[in-house]
Amino acid sequence: MKIELNENKVLFDNGKTVQEIHPFWLRERVDGDEFLDKGTQQRLFDPSTMSGEITIKKVQIKNGFLEVDFNDGVNSKLDITKLKSEFSNKDTVIKAIPRKKWDSTLKNIKNFEYKDGFFESKEMYDLLVSFYEFGFVVIKNVPTENNYIVKFANSIGSVRRTNFGEHFNVKSKSNPNDLAYTTLHLSPHTDNPYRNPVPCIQLLHCIENEVKGGLSTLVDGYMVTENLKKDNSEFYKILSEVKVRFKFSDKNIVLEDWSELIHLDDNKEFKQVRFSPRLDYVPMLEKNKLDLYYKARKKLSDLYNSEKNRIEFKLAPKDLMMMDNYRVLHGRTKFDPSEGKRFLQGCYIDFDSTEGKLRHLKRKFKI
Ligand SMILES: [Fe+2]
Repeated sequence: MKIELNENKVLFDNGKTVQEIHPFWLRERVDGDEFLDKGTQQRLFDPSTMSGEITIKKVQIKNGFLEVDFNDGVNSKLDITKLKSEFSNKDTVIKAIPRKKWDSTLKNIKNFEYKDGFFESKEMYDLLVSFYEFGFVVIKNVPTENNYIVKFANSIGSVRRTNFGEHFNVKSKSNPNDLAYTTLHLSPHTDNPYRNPVPCIQLLHCIENEVKGGLSTLVDGYMVTENLKKDNSEFYKILSEVKVRFKFSDKNIVLEDWSELIHLDDNKEFKQVRFSPRLDYVPMLEKNKLDLYYKARKKLSDLYNSEKNRIEFKLAPKDLMMMDNYRVLHGRTKFDPSEGKRFLQGCYIDFDSTEGKLRHLKRKFKI
């Protein structure tokens, strides 16, 4: 990739083709003191209000800079490395981290250890990369006092508050408004599929755990649905096309949202799974289509509930787990409350929190 000049034209050569860079594209990027606020890196002018009739009167390349005189009297020195970084117009940070698929054979998961200065450390960067690879991460030794989970979440980004509160306490209670607050086995599910948007990441912090059961279970929705695509494309197709209604209601609120169980992006690639069979409502389709749909959903449920796809482990006090609620399904085994206490706290954050932190740490450590 290089920038070349031909008279007053600036050309971009990607090794295969050579194309002219629009003068207005360059003019938008002028970054002298009167055009760009150095503190915020935000423009001090509004290119959307300018006439598109911008041409280049004179241009030269000097010491890695493009020195341009535009026809509106503006002169600027543009950093060529910075310009080149924009050519691909792709996310080179988050999407560049490859997802690693996993099942019950996943071994040696790297646990991270909380310490002072954690949120601004290289360790935090490694943690976030690992989170994007596997869809979950466990951090040991996180303080438990005064709902520290909220401080933890707000030190990465911002808590996503819901009608369950800023954070929620997971212990069994009488008259629960969700099965999470019982001692029952919870089969793999994603949280809050009835919200718009669905909270992206769940944080779950173990405060006390004295019972033998109550193991945490996780399933990689990405692995399972990619396998289904390979093994039964008809099932995969209908599950990624039919939108079902998810609904939650209690005495204060009625929440509803519609989505496919396997939601794909514009390129028909994995984007999100939702699965919560206690609160989904399939639309009334033609009988044969529903026949296929129910078979497909049963297959997906069998895969999510299969031991082959599940990892199981016990969270110890001070362990904090972060889970990608768009990818990883979670559950727990049942437990006997007469054995002792089991108390977890949870809260949500959205992807802007982890993405923003990761990009910041990458910049900070020049990675
Ligand atoms: Fe849950």
